[in-house]
Amino acid sequence: MSNEIDALLQEHRSFPPSEEFRRNANANDESVYDVTDREAYWASWAEQLDWQTKWHTVLEWNAPYAKWFVGGKLNASANCLDRHLATRGDKQALIWEGEPGDVRTFTYRELYAEVSKFANVLKSLGVVLGDRVAIYMPLVPEAIVAMLACARIGAAHSVVFGGFSSEALRDRIQDAEAKVLITATAGYRRGNLVPLKKLADAAADDCPSIKHVVVVMRRAVAEELDDTVSMKPDRDCWYHELMRNASADCEPEWVDSEQMLYTLYTSGTTGKPKGIVHTTGGYLTEAYATCKWVFDLKEEDVYWCTADIGWVTGHSYVVYGPLAAGATVFVYEGAPDWPKQDRFWSLIEKHKVSIFYTAPTAIRAFMKWGHQLPAAHDLSSLRLLGSVGEPINPEAWMWYQKWIGGERCPIVDTWWQTETGSIMITPLPGIVDTKPGSATRAFPGIDAKILDEGGNEVKVGGGYLAITSPWPSMLRGIWRDPERFEQQYWAKWPGIYFTGDGAKRDEDGYFWLLGRVDDIINVAGHRIGTMEVESALVDHQAVAEAAVVGINHEIKGTAIAAFVIVKSSRAEEAKRDPAKFEKELKDHVTAKIGAIARPEKILITSDLPKTRSGKIMRRLLRDIAEGRALGDVTTLADPTVVASLKDKYEEES
Ligand code: WT7
Repeated sequence: MSNEIDALLQEHRSFPPSEEFRRNANANDESVYDVTDREAYWASWAEQLDWQTKWHTVLEWNAPYAKWFVGGKLNASANCLDRHLATRGDKQALIWEGEPGDVRTFTYRELYAEVSKFANVLKSLGVVLGDRVAIYMPLVPEAIVAMLACARIGAAHSVVFGGFSSEALRDRIQDAEAKVLITATAGYRRGNLVPLKKLADAAADDCPSIKHVVVVMRRAVAEELDDTVSMKPDRDCWYHELMRNASADCEPEWVDSEQMLYTLYTSGTTGKPKGIVHTTGGYLTEAYATCKWVFDLKEEDVYWCTADIGWVTGHSYVVYGPLAAGATVFVYEGAPDWPKQDRFWSLIEKHKVSIFYTAPTAIRAFMKWGHQLPAAHDLSSLRLLGSVGEPINPEAWMWYQKWIGGERCPIVDTWWQTETGSIMITPLPGIVDTKPGSATRAFPGIDAKILDEGGNEVKVGGGYLAITSPWPSMLRGIWRDPERFEQQYWAKWPGIYFTGDGAKRDEDGYFWLLGRVDDIINVAGHRIGTMEVESALVDHQAVAEAAVVGINHEIKGTAIAAFVIVKSSRAEEAKRDPAKFEKELKDHVTAKIGAIARPEKILITSDLPKTRSGKIMRRLLRDIAEGRALGDVTTLADPTVVASLKDKYEEES
């Protein structure tokens, strides 16, 4: 890591926006950064939304508990749909393309009708204000309809990424006590079918809170799946059958500004994922504001954020932000390399995408596949590019700018988290000169600082990234776990939000994100807790002990390496056919959590390096797994442990 940091800090290239971009940008004057009255500033954004009842107090802050726009009533789906009908009723809200190439489009009026119908369906299934609804779906329009329908009746959705295992789904449903589960027969991934209904059944059968499972028939696959999809009488219902008779008339539930809009589970430093809670008024305000200024959304844009709705990026920047802003949102169901590695570029060309927001891991894969692929397509519709999920290395940034942006599109490298709800650190593309690898400046109204251990600000230099004032889209808590909420984010410095990220600030005040400082690994832009993977490994009957670390990976940024001590009863077998044994362990983790947690490397060892107090020395393990020279080992209880590990590693590679 330290080499990378050095490289980053030697990055002096800087790219101002073009005069033309600056002139037309939604935000193009440095004065937008002069926020003297933070509450008045955020209130002026909130005023751009539709409220059924206006708030009486902008902010009530009893650290760490915030309430924004107190007394206000609104509805998120009405802000994403109803309020556009008069001016944008026939404008495309959604252009969707499935992996097999099927295209469906929805105008704002059509999406409004679908959402209203499904809201009535949910009501008919007994869902009421405050209930939780789990969504486990491929990236199809019905998934977005389902989210907005929940919002319309004041139920909170809990979207679980379709790549998660049924066990992961079960745990999340049980924690949230969801009443209804919405799923699909299957989804497409690289030409294969992911049998979501089957996985959903395995979860739902263990979830007494689930009263109904609603199943979307993925049309193109209906026939192939006939024998793998079984419907449980009384519990399971087909989406299309319920929709057939549903009324398209559904008055939105005017909810309190602080009504929970959704919970979204994310990995923490313990084995148990946490349900991050977001509420309505503040969340929508900031998702909207950042869309207007960071993505510079204009009436004629075709906006594409490649995230799945299973992640927070899909919530804020596929659904709520851009639809609240009245944008045309493009959505693609499948993999970037299906049927060929130029799929994204052909989609941009075909649908005339003008704003493209993706992740560094994808950009690194594109680089590897070669610039000839984008070069063979007309990408001239693009005018702005974005990056999110992990630090972007300057080399990938430069490639993105040249081969995708044609050296004409500003790049917004946006730092934020599931917990922050919206983008927090980012260039404003019409104002800020960008530097490859830097997320640049805090969004206006956001108080981001680098602090040292003692909470003192570091003006120039490195430390912990902290947010020192409340912001509208901040998490309101961890579902049913206030203690963990306070401990995790607010205990390091009272009243100050601890992000878990290390960062540096340069002489120009620009932020350079350096990655997590806790036991969370960022694998291809997705957050995995080392403890989660370790508990999945020790759950295997052959594993006695496991330690997981993140190692550098060309495409994923970070990959998972697992050191495993095998129980003596299975040791012989592991030795006889290590490849088979390692695959068995990898498959086990995939089945327990999902493919994103699958270890890249399994290193079987007879011991783990621990300090005298029994703490696993993760940094040392990382050094070993990456084949680096070993540092000071004098604090090890048994220094020979490391030497033997190192020998073993060198033998293997
Ligand atoms: C963690 C949050 C925010 C949506 C996607 C991930 C890392 C995110 C950046 C960026 C450097 C970044 C941080 C953060 N991260 N964006 N532009 N530059 N690092 O959401 O799963 O909640 O993960 O992703 O480490 O803490 P998440």
